[in-house]
Amino acid sequence: MSNSVNNGVHMSATTLDPNRVLIFDTTLRDGEQSPGASLTSVEKLEIARQLAVLGVDIIEAGFPAASPDDLEAVRRIAAEVGNPSHGENSHKNIPQIAGLARATKGDIDKCWQAVRHAAKPRIHTFLATSDIHLKYKLLMTREQIIEKVREMVSYAVSLFTSAGMVPNVEFSPEDAGRSDKFFLVEVLKTAIEAGATTLNIPDTVGYCVPEEYGALINFLIEETPGAKGVIFSTHCHNDLGLATANTLAGVRFGARQIEVTINGIGERAGNTALEESVMALQTRQAEYGFTTGVQTAHLARTSQMVSHYTGINVQFNKAIIGANAFAHEAGIHQDGMLKNAQTYEIMRPETVGWTASRLVLGKHSGRHAFKMRLKEMGYPLLDEELDKAFARFKQLADKKKTITDADLEAIVSDELYQPREFYILDDMQVLCGKSGMPTATVRLRDVEGNISTKAAIGAGPIDAVYKAIDEIVNQDCTLLEFAVHAITEGIDALGEVTVRIETHEESPRTFGGHGADLDIIVAAAKAYISALNRMLAAHGSSVQDATAALELRSA
Ligand code: KIV
Ligand code: ZN
Repeated sequence: MSNSVNNGVHMSATTLDPNRVLIFDTTLRDGEQSPGASLTSVEKLEIARQLAVLGVDIIEAGFPAASPDDLEAVRRIAAEVGNPSHGENSHKNIPQIAGLARATKGDIDKCWQAVRHAAKPRIHTFLATSDIHLKYKLLMTREQIIEKVREMVSYAVSLFTSAGMVPNVEFSPEDAGRSDKFFLVEVLKTAIEAGATTLNIPDTVGYCVPEEYGALINFLIEETPGAKGVIFSTHCHNDLGLATANTLAGVRFGARQIEVTINGIGERAGNTALEESVMALQTRQAEYGFTTGVQTAHLARTSQMVSHYTGINVQFNKAIIGANAFAHEAGIHQDGMLKNAQTYEIMRPETVGWTASRLVLGKHSGRHAFKMRLKEMGYPLLDEELDKAFARFKQLADKKKTITDADLEAIVSDELYQPREFYILDDMQVLCGKSGMPTATVRLRDVEGNISTKAAIGAGPIDAVYKAIDEIVNQDCTLLEFAVHAITEGIDALGEVTVRIETHEESPRTFGGHGADLDIIVAAAKAYISALNRMLAAHGSSVQDATAALELRSA
């Protein structure tokens, strides 16, 4: 691979195209480490498939040594999403599949066991290099770190060569952002000598500022022997709200891979958001001069899928994918927009997959028109899902005059992004008002078709409904979060409720749920049942038994 110079700055070798920035998506690994995000194996597979459609270059599918379930999920993603020979691969892009491993033989073995099923597997191993981590966490000297890096990177490389494959090993000096840069040069030199092909520079605690992070990347590429023959990568956390700015600074100074997550989810304040960095590179192409392989029209849908599955809402004013990202409120702005969209818009909403909110269908629209509109919007529904969504549409059209794409999106997401249904809301009634005790009667149907009905009194109508559901489902959990918002404008808008619940296990886990309905108390019930279903699926399901719908949909 050749070395090139860009903007007067040396950059590391990447692909044959020196202006291409590789997108390494870590939604399923660092993103899943977000407080409260817990994904089932089936959800991980669906997200991985969507990331491939989005066009990312590398998917970090998980941390195989964390648990047998994690290993199995990474193995399944490698075999199905990362392999062109897998029958269900409808997407053209076959991404590399990476797994994370601490710098130990045990972790690296488990990682290899999982990723080797991909056409292009990658082992990503890491070891901390900052003095604070060495002193308090690892209890190791700098010399010991260098030795460990040499030994473990060589070991990871040997697994590829023994299998007759070209090594694809990434090394990360954890907490690089607070490490001594001269020590980092020694560590990175050792990793290159041992055969690492990608060097990732994590700002693990989100401490760096852009000038500093860019200068660090520049220094490391300039000073590390062998740097020009490998790819340098950014990995920035958002503790100071600077993750995207730091990532772009890293790219300007020679990094040709960026590690990002959908919606910016991740440890603490999160990671660099994929959608922000990709759209910054694309919108300011003249400034940066780089391209990515991302099909930006899939950004909104991918964001919604990740938000639904993780139960982590996207803030309204979030760049690119927030509900208000393309909304114009002030009269003067609206006037400008009507005259020419460029007055107040630097990107078109369609470019990132927002469908214009317009009147699309009405009460008299048939199943065919409904199906065609959904197809245009990019929703590949199975017949059974279509039937359910169409029935929901008809119910909504009876009550709501104008049905927009946003309403359709809410109905369909409600059908598509639901976990396996252990319980379904069959019926409910609520009595509430200014006097008296709010009372709810709830009827649920379980997977075997059994009906259970319970009534409960609560502090408010939603409390009463949740108590009645608890009586039937009988699971030990606490409601952590409850949020409601209107999908469209107007008094007859669909209400969307998102909840998060936490289990009472020794290591508590949280699960998100989502429900939409014209009646917000019904939406609240659906959201709670959806979270409980997700929890039951995580407790009882394995990758093997819960992929039927996914396989059918992509067939
Ligand atoms: O933030 C970090 O340092 C990481 C590494 C494991 C790459 O996530
Ligand atoms: Zn990280």
